[in-house]
Amino acid sequence: MRPMEGKDEMDLLGTRNDSLKIRRFEPRDFSEAVSLDAEAGGGHDPYLLTYFYENYPTTFLVAEVSGTIAGMVLGFRQSPMEGRIFWLAVRSGLQGQGVGRRLLTELLEIFRRLGVVDVILEVRATNKRAQGLYVDLGFEIFTTAKNYYPDGEGAIIMRRSL
Ligand SMILES: CC(C)(COP(=O)(O)OP(=O)(O)OC[C@H]1O[C@@H](n2cnc3c(N)ncnc32)[C@H](O)[C@@H]1OP(=O)(O)O)[C@@H](O)C(=O)NCCC(=O)NCCS
Repeated sequence: MRPMEGKDEMDLLGTRNDSLKIRRFEPRDFSEAVSLDAEAGGGHDPYLLTYFYENYPTTFLVAEVSGTIAGMVLGFRQSPMEGRIFWLAVRSGLQGQGVGRRLLTELLEIFRRLGVVDVILEVRATNKRAQGLYVDLGFEIFTTAKNYYPDGEGAIIMRRSL
């Protein structure tokens, strides 16, 4: 059984919301991050996580709740002044409770401190939930791309100035 299932998940972010901690990814998080990626529909090669850890440690963040990984965001600086959000995922039982928002807010602050002035991301055209969160955090549609994903779905490219 996974460590956070059922009613306890609500309790973790409900009455004990202050137990949510945003920190950098560490190697000990690897197996939990791999299973989170699969659960959230990422389907990435696990090596991606190692790659981000080795190359972009300051912008690869996890959300920890009572010692368990509730979410993660993989960001990187693709040029000195441009940040990119590559992937954001939250455990299915913990979605809708502000974990994604906290991860993004923290990442944007780190980008700002690094001197980034523009942040870009792409999101599946049908992923209204993620789009809603990004709009809420100040992102605007920049352009769209047809057949962007391997399954043929289009992407919406969003951008935000810092
Ligand atoms: C997208 C995802 C990361 C959001 O994380 P989350 O922790 O559930 O999001 P939060 O609880 O922080 O924020 C929810 C916000 O999203 C928006 N939102 C949520 N559901 C929405 C919906 N059905 N329609 C529009 N906006 C919605 C709202 O702005 C909401 O703000 P609120 O807290 O004021 O209600 C999460 O749902 C997830 O992991 N999904 C699967 C993977 C994925 O799609 N990743 C994004 C790749 S680009």
